[in-house]
Amino acid sequence: MNLLDQPAFVALQRMKAQELALSLSQRFALEPRRFTEFCLPFGEHMQVDFSRQLWSSDVKAQLCKLARDMDLNSPIQALFGDNLLNHTEERAVLHTVLRTPADITVLLKGTNVVPFVHHELARIKVFCQQVHSGEWRGFNGQTITDVVNIGIGGSDLGPAMVTEALACYQDKGIRAHFVSNMDGAQLAQVLQQVDAARTLFIVSSKSFTTDETMTNARAAREWFLAACGNAVDVKKHFVAVSTNTKAVQAFGISSDHMFEFWDWVGGRFSLWSAIGLPIALTLGFESFEELLAGAHAMDLHFQDTPFEKNVPVLMALLSIWNINVLGLRSEGVFPYCQALKRFPAYLQQLNMESNGKRVNNQGEKISHNTGPIVWGEVGTNGQHAFFQLLHQGSQVVPADFIGFACSSYNYPEHQRKLLGNMLAQAEAMAFGKNYNQVAKELTCEGLSTEEVAKLAPYKVMPGNRPSTTVLCDELTPYNLGALIAMYEHKTFVQGIIWDINSFDQWGVELGKKLAARLIDDLADKAETTDHDSATNGLVAQIKKWNLAFKD
Ligand code: F6P
Repeated sequence: MNLLDQPAFVALQRMKAQELALSLSQRFALEPRRFTEFCLPFGEHMQVDFSRQLWSSDVKAQLCKLARDMDLNSPIQALFGDNLLNHTEERAVLHTVLRTPADITVLLKGTNVVPFVHHELARIKVFCQQVHSGEWRGFNGQTITDVVNIGIGGSDLGPAMVTEALACYQDKGIRAHFVSNMDGAQLAQVLQQVDAARTLFIVSSKSFTTDETMTNARAAREWFLAACGNAVDVKKHFVAVSTNTKAVQAFGISSDHMFEFWDWVGGRFSLWSAIGLPIALTLGFESFEELLAGAHAMDLHFQDTPFEKNVPVLMALLSIWNINVLGLRSEGVFPYCQALKRFPAYLQQLNMESNGKRVNNQGEKISHNTGPIVWGEVGTNGQHAFFQLLHQGSQVVPADFIGFACSSYNYPEHQRKLLGNMLAQAEAMAFGKNYNQVAKELTCEGLSTEEVAKLAPYKVMPGNRPSTTVLCDELTPYNLGALIAMYEHKTFVQGIIWDINSFDQWGVELGKKLAARLIDDLADKAETTDHDSATNGLVAQIKKWNLAFKD
């Protein structure tokens, strides 16, 4: 199974020098059909252009052979049925069921799990209707105007990103707020903006033990009680989303006000479940269903399309080519769409928590590179910050540009300029500007030969920097669902090729344990001596400066 031993991978490594001998400029000059060949449609609303990647049809064929040799189709099919893909936590991985239509059967250990999903969806729908119609009211009879989601990681990033992305679909008169951080500043800022009598708190946590979430939830409940004064009214203002019924009840939220999901849904894959409640409450249940429908369409494409035309599979295989053969270990994602401001942060958890692993499925240390550093920012803001490095830096960062032909806002001039900028950045990365072009331009501007020789080297843009452009007609719930599912499946395929479990996250545990000890140390009047000298020294200084810890 080792990637490095795969004949197709060895062949790809051998092809590297020859492939790099041709630049993107040369390739486009030699291949008039390059765009047609490498730009793939997904349905009628989305297309993904891979033509500006540093590859050829030979590389593509070899990558698809690699996927076939590694029997990629088996884990893909497993993702849609009974499986134990998350073997280190002894859990199935079935987030795709969350967007599966009701008339389809998916058996897990002999039980069809699709009805569970649709039962919970029906509860969400009823709850949304109650809130939207004003049937659900707060303690003094007023309707709900604000929803505060308290959760972190997968219980925050997905719903926060989608709610913001589809803000222009929000027509239910409900504002969403998100509190995730252990820094009380975030909770304080949100609480300043809301009225306790008209606010619904959603405590969202798969485990219902995450310290940030429970600390914020307790503080929110205290704040609510201070404003309303009556413990029986908590039930009108607090609901929970979790897999842990006991802990939800222990917090004081009854099962009637708890929306359930299941241990076969990983936190970072959970926005399609009741974790998406803030989405349904702010956009309406119909938009939430559209989001699910878009993701389901991508699931079908992923499951049924030959690798050569399978968009998420090709995205993943290209990242294997870039990371493992070309040595490009970081991936930039640049949505030219302000509404997708949180999309890079969402993708960071999705990909880096999934594939930031160094041990394979047999528990052995892996000898090749795995998960890339994923980062990004919306265009055009990024252009005025770090794009300099993308164009002229010593590191090459493959980029995903994401754009929408039509804007949901009526600023046609902005939209034209926004898209013009996106296309220009991809063009500049791919083709750059060579010394002769720069020298000619400077000469035309009237610079002397000496001045040209002095300035030109700084202005040369090497080009030949790979990018993919994802283009949609519009940012609709359906298209967003498909886009997110596309990146989920890319992440999954990367994990399969690298032979890692993309569904656990043991790496976050040590920090949590150490934090618990240090939180106690900070409250301890005695000097802290049982850590390394740096930690002890920093604890002492914090205690010296923050006298509150001494009380
Ligand atoms: O600490 C990492 C993590 O476990 C993520 O995987 C998860 O999305 C997040 O914490 C929140 O977990 P929970 O939903 O259980 O509060």
